[in-house]
Amino acid sequence: MQFNDIKGFAFDLDGVIADTAKFHGQAWHQTADKVGSPWTAQLADNLKGVSRMDSLEMILKAGGHEHEYSLAQKEQLAAAKNENYLQLIKTLTPHDILPGIAVFLNELKTDGYLMSVASASKNAPTILKQLQLTDYFVGTVDPETLTAGKPDPEIFIKAAEIMHLSPKNVAGLEDSSAGITAINAAGELSIGIGTGLPAAQIKFDDTSMVTINNIKKQLK
Ligand code: BG6
Ligand code: MG
Repeated sequence: MQFNDIKGFAFDLDGVIADTAKFHGQAWHQTADKVGSPWTAQLADNLKGVSRMDSLEMILKAGGHEHEYSLAQKEQLAAAKNENYLQLIKTLTPHDILPGIAVFLNELKTDGYLMSVASASKNAPTILKQLQLTDYFVGTVDPETLTAGKPDPEIFIKAAEIMHLSPKNVAGLEDSSAGITAINAAGELSIGIGTGLPAAQIKFDDTSMVTINNIKKQLK
């Protein structure tokens, strides 16, 4: 893909726009302790980008507890995790936008690029509001409408549709390996943030490096 092909950007939220991935991790850690599953850095990493119920299943599986809970009990565990998470994000303000992202969003807006949000989180609209970023985006994919979560490409295909763009004219930004797989499968340009994302077509160590110019440089 050439830079001139890009007309829009589909953003993951947790770990790309806001430093909220750590709060998901903290809340899930409590769930893992509650059900007696081991909490490891690898599990924490694998949960990134994964939906609430799928994350719970992975945590139960990590301790061999996947057959010990009824659906109602699992829903309770997931609801309790979300309550903890909501407590942790209560105090989010525009100061919690990750370094460089506010500047990048303004740069994209000034240059006329479209933007949409491709987050697995049902809390995305609340978080965008707290960060005062809602108006930058044409829209946010509603994860309730998805038949499959990341790594399935559906969410990034819908994020392109919201912008009325073909995936081949879209770049997706992600901090999770499941998300990068989804972007690539959607046929979009994948921009990976952080380490351990070998499948990303463009890579940045952290959000502070994400600028139009730095993307252009890596595409040359
Ligand atoms: C993703 C996060 O963005 O959203 C995951 O990376 C999280 O960690 C998922 O589990 C679902 O979020 P929520 O807020 O709907 O529980
Ligand atoms: Mg993320």
